[in-house]
Amino acid sequence: MKTYMTFHEDPELLHVNTCEDRNYYVPFAPGQDAFDERTVSSRMELLNGEWSFAYYDSFAEMPVDAVDLPKEKKITVPSCIQLQGYDRCQYTNVNYPIPYDPPYVPTDNPTAVYERTYSYEPDDFERYLVFEGVDSCFYLIVNNQMVGYSQVTHATSEFCITSALKEGENRIAVVVLKWCDGTYLEDQDKLRFTGIIRDVYMLRRPKEHITDYQIRTTINEELTRASVHMEIRGKKAKVTVADAEGVEVASAQTGEDGFADFVIESPKLWNAEIPYLYKMTIDAGDEIIGEGFGIREVAIVDGVYTINRKKVKLRGVNRHDSNPVTGSVVTMEDMKRDLFLMKRCNINCIRTSHYPNAPEFYRLCDRYGFYVVEEADLESHGSEPAGQVYGQAWDHRKVSITTDNPIFAEAILDRERKMITREFNRPCVIMWSMGNEAGFGAILNNAAKMIKAFDSSRPLHFEAVHHSLDGTPDTEMDVVSYMYPTVSSMYRYVSEGNNKRPYFLCEYSHSMGNSNGDLADYWSMIDSDDRFMGGCVWEWCDHAVANGETEDGRTRYSYGGDFDDYPNDGNFCMDGLVYPDRTPHTGLMELKQCYRPLTVAAGNTQGEFVLTNRLTFAALEDLYEVSYEIKDSGATLAEGKLDLSLPAGVSTSLSIPEAMDVKGKDVRIRFVVLTKDTNACWEKGTVIGYDQVLLHAENRRFIPVPMAARKYLKLEDLPLAYRITANETVYLLRKKDAAIISMQFRGEELLKKPVEMDFFRAPTDNDAGMTKAWKDWGFDRPICRLSSLRLIEPGTEYIFKADLTFGAASRIPFARVQAEYCFYPNGELNIRLHMHKSETSPYLPRFGLRFFLPKEFEDFDYYGYGPFESYVDKHLASYVDWHHTTVTGNHEDYVKPQENSSHYGTQFASLGNATVRLGFASDAEFSIQASHYTREELAAKKHNYELVPSGMTIVNTDAAMSGIGSASCGPQLSEIYQCNDPDTELSLWVYAKTL
Ligand code: GAL
Ligand code: MG
Repeated sequence: MKTYMTFHEDPELLHVNTCEDRNYYVPFAPGQDAFDERTVSSRMELLNGEWSFAYYDSFAEMPVDAVDLPKEKKITVPSCIQLQGYDRCQYTNVNYPIPYDPPYVPTDNPTAVYERTYSYEPDDFERYLVFEGVDSCFYLIVNNQMVGYSQVTHATSEFCITSALKEGENRIAVVVLKWCDGTYLEDQDKLRFTGIIRDVYMLRRPKEHITDYQIRTTINEELTRASVHMEIRGKKAKVTVADAEGVEVASAQTGEDGFADFVIESPKLWNAEIPYLYKMTIDAGDEIIGEGFGIREVAIVDGVYTINRKKVKLRGVNRHDSNPVTGSVVTMEDMKRDLFLMKRCNINCIRTSHYPNAPEFYRLCDRYGFYVVEEADLESHGSEPAGQVYGQAWDHRKVSITTDNPIFAEAILDRERKMITREFNRPCVIMWSMGNEAGFGAILNNAAKMIKAFDSSRPLHFEAVHHSLDGTPDTEMDVVSYMYPTVSSMYRYVSEGNNKRPYFLCEYSHSMGNSNGDLADYWSMIDSDDRFMGGCVWEWCDHAVANGETEDGRTRYSYGGDFDDYPNDGNFCMDGLVYPDRTPHTGLMELKQCYRPLTVAAGNTQGEFVLTNRLTFAALEDLYEVSYEIKDSGATLAEGKLDLSLPAGVSTSLSIPEAMDVKGKDVRIRFVVLTKDTNACWEKGTVIGYDQVLLHAENRRFIPVPMAARKYLKLEDLPLAYRITANETVYLLRKKDAAIISMQFRGEELLKKPVEMDFFRAPTDNDAGMTKAWKDWGFDRPICRLSSLRLIEPGTEYIFKADLTFGAASRIPFARVQAEYCFYPNGELNIRLHMHKSETSPYLPRFGLRFFLPKEFEDFDYYGYGPFESYVDKHLASYVDWHHTTVTGNHEDYVKPQENSSHYGTQFASLGNATVRLGFASDAEFSIQASHYTREELAAKKHNYELVPSGMTIVNTDAAMSGIGSASCGPQLSEIYQCNDPDTELSLWVYAKTL
């Protein structure tokens, strides 16, 4: 049999003996509830579970009779063999894992042989064996007879195997190969797995049965009548449509031509906010099919993307099938967990990057309400490096050499056809995407025409059109699409005026590590013009492999390079909005806020506010409630609830009496949007978003109270330092560099190491492009020179003035700092820094002071932007309040450690051990960070579980902290968020007190 197994290197032989592609459904027996879970159907038998198994490192060394040989091992279906102890995991992004020699694959092609029994009692029904996904291809053998072959990992393959079955026990074997000619078209950026990765089942069907059907709906001008045209092939059927309450609203019988036409008066339309589904029963006599039928229309009107005639913004994410334990195998529970969390985070759109998901996924999206951009299983990104010629300039267009290759012409059509056929009837699918990073050319253009001929009801998308070797124009595409553009290039698109297509951000705000600093800027641009239809953040989840637990019970996650995999792309797969176990990253909290349904802004007069419902279809009060609280410096002044009636898309203004004549130090109102009811996705009272408005602030927030009596101040001139005794605090100011090297309060030393001026942070993934320059300039270990240190005694306080420079070997100093240390009789120390940055150096990660306290300083509170980490460009999810936490709890545990948990806009902060609190305050806002890890440790370690606490509490108080951006794949950090001002000031009060 093995001698016949040659199809996997034959790009023109894609499927052998498979049934014709059809739309997805599972038939039920008459009398059953066809809308029940599919596994309830008596016509479906799930074949998941334990199969016998044999594995060979090389297809070449698979015995000729491998299928026949007894198999001692067992494997679970579905699963990825690499996570069951075979082969090895590999993570590669662009590069193909195999030499580029299409359509051939390496001799050592890992081979997995699966086998199980199936017992068959002959009856009037045919047996259809269905595979919903096998990576990358497979041969099907029944009772030692080759029955068929198929490929395309994320597509359904169906075989009618009745004639190969005999009464009683039958043996079904599946030979799965890791690589095939299809590998050249499946070069998606992900961990590369192998196996039967989706459900396998048998369908029992009458000899004559429905094969395929399409539902096409048009809605009249007034949206009062939906005309439905159905084409049902294979067998005549009766179609009945009931509304959600079960009341029949239409019915029809197919004619000789297989058509059934009917009308639904006053239709309730489907949209993601109110996903109304009718129940359509398709009755073929001896089989029934239940269709959750949604009526909706997608159209582009004057360059504006609309759904049901309303301008829509797609607030989306890119989602891969991914689970840290099961790899690309995901259960219904996994999918639901993702969808429910997305729903709670105001996400209304999913791009199924970069392949179709399991068919049930779309049913869930119909039911829970998501707009889906469905993408074909097509990416050939590795063609770009593969096509380069040594010594010649890099040419991005070479990404299209694979899709331009005529040997793949049929394979490309096949992949597109499979997608549009299977999901044609799904209301959630609101746009087709031809694939990702595959380049563009005549063959793909031909496929685009095929899609549009089959389905004129959905726009077509393909970002890869920008890279074409043969110059094929992108005219078949209905939308213009980009990934990771600058906001200013988006502005150019709309300001040039002659662009008549909607603009879609198929990928933006690369969520790698501490990221998503650019969301607000993208969305103010998107909201500025109707031609921007929104976009999808890259990407939903971190991909990693769970690899046991640490002693303290944390999961060890592995990524590229941890599997001895070559080539690999390191932690580039860790670029999601959620950790592998779906714990939200702070970036998801930012996105949730960015996508919130209600925004509130200050009105024209004090106490007046403008509220805007950003939904397209639902009134705010249909889904949510709004409450508010007014606080002064963290203390509640007033609370209340709003009684709102706010239709979709509408703004209103209202006044809140308690917000009118407010007095206090720092008074702010916060409006909180909460879910109104409990449903599958959320509990009643779940916080969906908020807005905070500053009502009143005193100019000078921090007023020190120096004690008049000079007698509490004492200065001693020691050989290497000045000792300043200020009431109960004793400071040592080192003479060589004007550093505070000791601070004793009531005899207790508060500093473990001298206070440092700090210019560096543990690079984030988004800092990767800057790190080398930052280190070249010595920001991470500056060499200091003190040029002067003078004492001034103006009155009640002692002031030391110092001039310092900081620089790297062989460079001009990047910073000159004038420092003033003012010691007050009450023990307070005011440190005033003026930093002048060199024009020629790169921007700084940060500028401020670093304190090293004993680790017992664990209690941490701050009045600033929290509770999440926050930065100049990343504080949508945080709000100003007194936030109480601990130093341990303040750590954001990125799998690849990096800068984290700074708090922007802080005015006061303090750290406490059992007896003493050390306070920090400033007239200007600063950024604070407290951690048990040094930035050096964070920068050095590749995994969170390798981190070793320093035995100290390290506190950074920064006058400037660069923004976060998303430059790991996106544009450079916007200049306005870079610490690059020529002059930066810090004025910080430091004081110790007892509890
Ligand atoms: C994009 C690509 C994605 C992913 C991302 C980087 O270019 O479409 O699949 O690779 O970059 O994380
Ligand atoms: Mg790619």
